[in-house]
Amino acid sequence: MSVLTQGAQYVFRYARSKFDSFQAFGELGEKGTSHLPHSVVTPLATYSPWKTDAEFQRVFNLVRGSTLVDIFRCYELWSLVAEASKLPSGDILEVGVWRGGTGCLMASQAKRSGLGCAVHLCDTFEGVVKVGGKDRHYHGGEHADTSKARVEALAGEMGLEHVTLHQGIFPEQTGPELESCTFRLCHIDVDVYQSCMDIFDWVWPRLVSGGIAVFDDYGFLSTGGVTRGVNERRLKRDCLMLHNLNGHAVFVKT
Ligand SMILES: C[S@@+](CC[C@H](N)C(=O)[O-])C[C@H]1O[C@@H](n2cnc3c(N)ncnc32)[C@H](O)[C@@H]1O
Repeated sequence: MSVLTQGAQYVFRYARSKFDSFQAFGELGEKGTSHLPHSVVTPLATYSPWKTDAEFQRVFNLVRGSTLVDIFRCYELWSLVAEASKLPSGDILEVGVWRGGTGCLMASQAKRSGLGCAVHLCDTFEGVVKVGGKDRHYHGGEHADTSKARVEALAGEMGLEHVTLHQGIFPEQTGPELESCTFRLCHIDVDVYQSCMDIFDWVWPRLVSGGIAVFDDYGFLSTGGVTRGVNERRLKRDCLMLHNLNGHAVFVKT
């Protein structure tokens, strides 16, 4: 495969990972990049353990048709669940499930890591909510092409008995169902500023020490509201924040 073809495929994979990234890439192309802290990121590192991790590949193949998230971020979620299994307690939470791909991937790794904890998957199953002025590429209602039953079916096919689904706006509608839980890991994949801030502020006091909150949408032009929210919250003193060049922002509670 030529270098050019590889490069084009790489860009295409990233572009597919967010519903309107083509529009965002178009914006970069039209105006140039000098006014924005954005470009297509192509690290020079070569270590790619997801290629030879047979169990990850098996599970990723089961969920890849049910996720918008690329293999790089999926592998990081897979790895973060393994890291979080070193913590003594806490459930796993995902807000922003869509068709269940990343949630079932994490639940599968939790089962494999011997974690007996619950994996809570929370979504409106009616699309994105709380769009505001900081979310230039969203209107509300995106990603409504799914259902709770569809995710239940995927979890069932994969034998993930410890998954529980919660339908409604998080945290206002479904947070009370999890009021008494603590968490070792939270994946936040909700695309817009206000939702991501509300979820982070709800989960942070419920994370155990060393617990992890990972934002899917930090590194993408199409989800600039989330970038802004993360940059506000990273100023907190009780956290370490790592920007992964795959687009994730990873907070560790100190
Ligand atoms: C990009 S999709 C999630 C993608 C998914 N993680 C995957 O594996 O492809 C974003 C989801 O967030 C949900 N969502 C957005 N804001 C929410 C909120 N405040 N509460 C619950 N769900 C929300 C939407 O319904 C949508 O399904």
